[in-house]
Amino acid sequence: MAIGSASGKIILFGEHAVVYGRPALAVPLNDLRARVRVQARADPGVVICARDLGRTFALETAPPTDPLAAITYITLAELNVPLSTGLELVIESEIPLASGLGSGAAVSTAIVRALDAYFERALPAERVSALVYETEKMYHGTPSGIDNTVIALERAIHFTRQTGARAITIARPFCLVIAHTGIASPTKRAVGDVRRGWEKDPARYDKIFDEVGALVNRAESALARGANEELGALMDQNQELLRTLDVSSPEIENLLTAARRAGAPGGKLSGGGRGGNVIVYVGPADAEAIQRALLAAGAAKVLQTTVRNE
Ligand code: PMV
Repeated sequence: MAIGSASGKIILFGEHAVVYGRPALAVPLNDLRARVRVQARADPGVVICARDLGRTFALETAPPTDPLAAITYITLAELNVPLSTGLELVIESEIPLASGLGSGAAVSTAIVRALDAYFERALPAERVSALVYETEKMYHGTPSGIDNTVIALERAIHFTRQTGARAITIARPFCLVIAHTGIASPTKRAVGDVRRGWEKDPARYDKIFDEVGALVNRAESALARGANEELGALMDQNQELLRTLDVSSPEIENLLTAARRAGAPGGKLSGGGRGGNVIVYVGPADAEAIQRALLAAGAAKVLQTTVRNE
């Protein structure tokens, strides 16, 4: 028997623009994890039991487009394990689906890690990330690769498609409240809509992406200097640009307004947008009042996390 697990993630700054080569900052969300248990079964063939999705199926019966099946096929091929090997994979995840917290990449990463542990191979993190990227394409269409990278490395990163990831410094830990709009929004759709907009008016979109990139650089500098008091305003500015890209929604704006009224210095959507989660920068003393305000404004779920190096 072997177990693999992987954290969720938060994009702090730069989603969507990162698909077009601009930088973004992301951190692992260690409070929410996906776990996979691999064990031998007497009969030949692989069975996948995804409890939270209410699905149990034999690998060979799944359509090739199924992301759980795909990552299992890809990993078994990478490890040179025959498909006739009798295996059961039991998948559990605390990460809400289609909500911008990287659930797809986390489940895929946990599958790779569990199989890797079961067959005692010790694949390097970069290889795990590359395998997961293959299935990210199924969830996202044209993924930047930021989700699989931050989840495989499990550290705060600056990411671009051209240069990959490098670690960033968070000089002073800070609190975020994460609030779910209650609306599941597939990233693929939002990413596809942004692409159609960009194709129609590339100059306008590229200018917005450049502005997002500039904010990301300012945010990285603020984090490195421990100037956390700058983060709220930077999040608000990033949110304004995301609104211009048409990936916000009335529910997202409603939660952000409620948080600001309750004293939050700023916040933004995180991930694909249109639904999913917002992140709100909060001082520790105000965190509880802001969580209450978010719930009163209709948040389906709130949680608080501390962002730090490691
Ligand atoms: O919705 P999530 O958590 O999968 O994040 C997607 C981030 C995007 O920038 C919108 C897409 C991407 O591939 O980077």
